[in-house]
Amino acid sequence: MKSVIDILDLSVEEIYNMMDVAIDIDTFPQKYSKCCEGRKMATLFFEPSTRTRLSHEAAMLELGGSVLGFSGAQNSSAAKGESIADTAKTVSCYADIIAIRHSLEGAALVASENASIPVINAGDGGHNHPTQTLADLLTIYREKGKLTGLTIGMCGDLKYGRTVHSLINAMTRYEGNRFICISPEELVLPEYAEHVFKEAGIEFEVTNNLEEAIPELDILYMTRIQRERFDNQELYDSLKDSYSLTVDKLESAKPDMIVMHPLPRVNEISVKVDDDPRACYFKQCLNGKLMRMSLIIKLLEDAIIKEKEVVAHHGENYFGGSCKNSKCITQIEQELESQFYIDDNGIKRCRYCDTEMTREA
Ligand code: NCD
Repeated sequence: MKSVIDILDLSVEEIYNMMDVAIDIDTFPQKYSKCCEGRKMATLFFEPSTRTRLSHEAAMLELGGSVLGFSGAQNSSAAKGESIADTAKTVSCYADIIAIRHSLEGAALVASENASIPVINAGDGGHNHPTQTLADLLTIYREKGKLTGLTIGMCGDLKYGRTVHSLINAMTRYEGNRFICISPEELVLPEYAEHVFKEAGIEFEVTNNLEEAIPELDILYMTRIQRERFDNQELYDSLKDSYSLTVDKLESAKPDMIVMHPLPRVNEISVKVDDDPRACYFKQCLNGKLMRMSLIIKLLEDAIIKEKEVVAHHGENYFGGSCKNSKCITQIEQELESQFYIDDNGIKRCRYCDTEMTREA
């Protein structure tokens, strides 16, 4: 049974098919209004959320299904120390599909390995956020008419911004895309995300200057500085106002550049920009619901036809060593056996958070 923990769990072809279904749902919603009758989605949100949780729930309701779940770890048995594994096993008795968000990297993968129903990663710490990427891909496809040959500027917190990591995984699969990474030095991409470019043989530029990059871009993907991921609040305070997209700055942008943001925004996009036809962030919200509807249909159909094949995440996995990332799920759930995989370049990486592990580990 298939889960979506990483955007790469879906092939390019599957994503194109899902986009076709999403557009069809938008045009003929009635056709899909009973698709998931009698099915339940559990939303397990250990971290704050507005769009991701509500759009998953709206998606399931509009498909005729129902929803149950919690929002906030304090309202679940996690507050009593229950593990993700036990939570996933329990919820599998009550629902047909799970959407989970957690602050630890790799938590959704652990849930998928212990659940007997499909699991959707709705954000695991600063690591990945594949369903936001589905929303982003449909937005790019609808606005630009293609997913190829685009110059994409990603601006803000590239270190902790999980939506950026998943977007890079997705957009490097389409031909001819160029990437400009715009961030303060302290918030550059983590090694594993940068590695995706290198592995794909894609050149990318790194700068801290938004104004200089803007004229080249087809897509400007703004992000919030992720306050909750900083170990050092003083550092956050010194970086929180790094970027602010204003109407003035947009003057030098191409007339058909699009401005994207996964939201919530704090101060990195002036509200005055909302009136510019190039602002697409609220369109992303709608597209997010449509793609989640498409994803739920796909995962439940797959579950119904009892697709038994269990695909190992990142190929073959090995046991041993320990992950040094303090934000990895393996640091908390001690009973998890440490696992790693070897990537195409022979680098040993934690199976749960993709962080490079030391050779001897
Ligand atoms: C993002 C997230 O949670 O990673 N929000 C979202 O899901 N749309 C971005 C953010 O919180 O900054």
